[in-house]
Amino acid sequence: MAASPLTLAPRRAVDASVDHGIQAIVAGTATGSTCSTDLAATPWTFDTVPGYGPGASMGDVIPTGSPRQGELPAEYREASEDELHARIRAAKETLGDRVVVLGHFYQRDEVVRHADYVGDSFQLANAAKAHPEAEAIVFCGVHFMAETADLLSGPGQAVILPNLAAGCSMADMADIDQVEECWEQLEDVYGPLDEPDADGFLPVIPVTYMNSSAAIKGFVGRHGGIVCTSSNARTVLEWAFARGRRVLFFPDQHLGRNTAKAMGVPLERMPMWNPHRPLGGSSEQDLRDARVILWHGFCSVHRRFTVDQIDRARAEHPGVRVIVHPECPMPVVDAADEAGSTDVIRRAIVSATAPTTFAIGTEINLVQRLAAQHPQHTIFCLDPVVCPCSTMYRIHPGYLAWTLEELVAGRVVNRITVADEVAAPARVALERMLAAKPASATPARTA
Ligand code: 13P
Ligand code: SF4
Repeated sequence: MAASPLTLAPRRAVDASVDHGIQAIVAGTATGSTCSTDLAATPWTFDTVPGYGPGASMGDVIPTGSPRQGELPAEYREASEDELHARIRAAKETLGDRVVVLGHFYQRDEVVRHADYVGDSFQLANAAKAHPEAEAIVFCGVHFMAETADLLSGPGQAVILPNLAAGCSMADMADIDQVEECWEQLEDVYGPLDEPDADGFLPVIPVTYMNSSAAIKGFVGRHGGIVCTSSNARTVLEWAFARGRRVLFFPDQHLGRNTAKAMGVPLERMPMWNPHRPLGGSSEQDLRDARVILWHGFCSVHRRFTVDQIDRARAEHPGVRVIVHPECPMPVVDAADEAGSTDVIRRAIVSATAPTTFAIGTEINLVQRLAAQHPQHTIFCLDPVVCPCSTMYRIHPGYLAWTLEELVAGRVVNRITVADEVAAPARVALERMLAAKPASATPARTA
């Protein structure tokens, strides 16, 4: 891929590698703490063990039947960081335009440096769509992102997830069977869900966050619903309220609550739906009065941020600008100066002209990279404990080297494919989102 001026990395004041920081903390050569010393181990240590692996999601319950990664060949497990780097570069050079490598903002630096595009999940899906000439799209992100890229890319293109164990614990909290069951229970409360009332409103419109399986996106598409991202959630809720009496929002309760609250929906009209309880744990009356029914899901990375951390940042850094992701709990979003998606956070920093101190409430890999790229600012993560997203962390350069070298040898491994019967309605839900108002769709091209 041709180099662009954007590739010129700014002079680095700090090492952007969270990995190096973790190794140093665990070895005792740097101060600080991590949420798990297992983070210093390589991800293949965990590939044979069920679970999300070390990091923020390690305590979350992994659904049975979640994809597992087979054993990575020894040559990749044993290679040094420098060797993997050289092999990835060589494989990419051989493949040329036949491959596009996408890197999510939360990926480790050792992976991001090989990405042709770095961005949020929606931007990267668009980058996949923009390269019909590529035979393969290697998505360094998590499972739902690779599925979305498969939905938006051409039929002859293979979307590859370098480590199949890179799921998303939040997306896994809304399982399609639970959602179907919820829909049936709501039908008992509201009557037929596909019949508009006298004013033309449906009883409930399902809205799913991009961080959900293709099966859930398909469900939403089949039932008159829509997908949202963290950057267009308000626009999407407005779209839904123009068509329905209420919204069923999944899987992230926090994004749903924060967005609806900012739109003036009172908290008492946002009952929670816990899939393990009858009627989601709410009364029939609460469900009838509801404007937004919030699925009981959350992100374990963003749940770590607290109001205490913000208070401490303000006490230690007078004038600090606190920006958090809307997946953070409501009191944290309320206490912050601003809340926005990963790209909103990035753009806030890029556009700050005067040297500024930023305290950021999102995943550590993005925060540390922004700190390294913008040495004129002081940028730190609100969470003092180094605790990356467990599943993003499963993508290590070893898997990237393996998938790319397999492509060079003419073999496609770890392909993510969405079945046609799910893909068609899922695309409908995505198209509705794009028509409602496109989110900022341009990722930063790096090479
Ligand atoms: P983006 O949609 O901003 O990429 O966020 C994805 C994510 O996983 C946030 O936790
Ligand atoms: Fe999922 Fe949270 Fe990780 Fe994002 S940061 S991929 S929502 S677990």
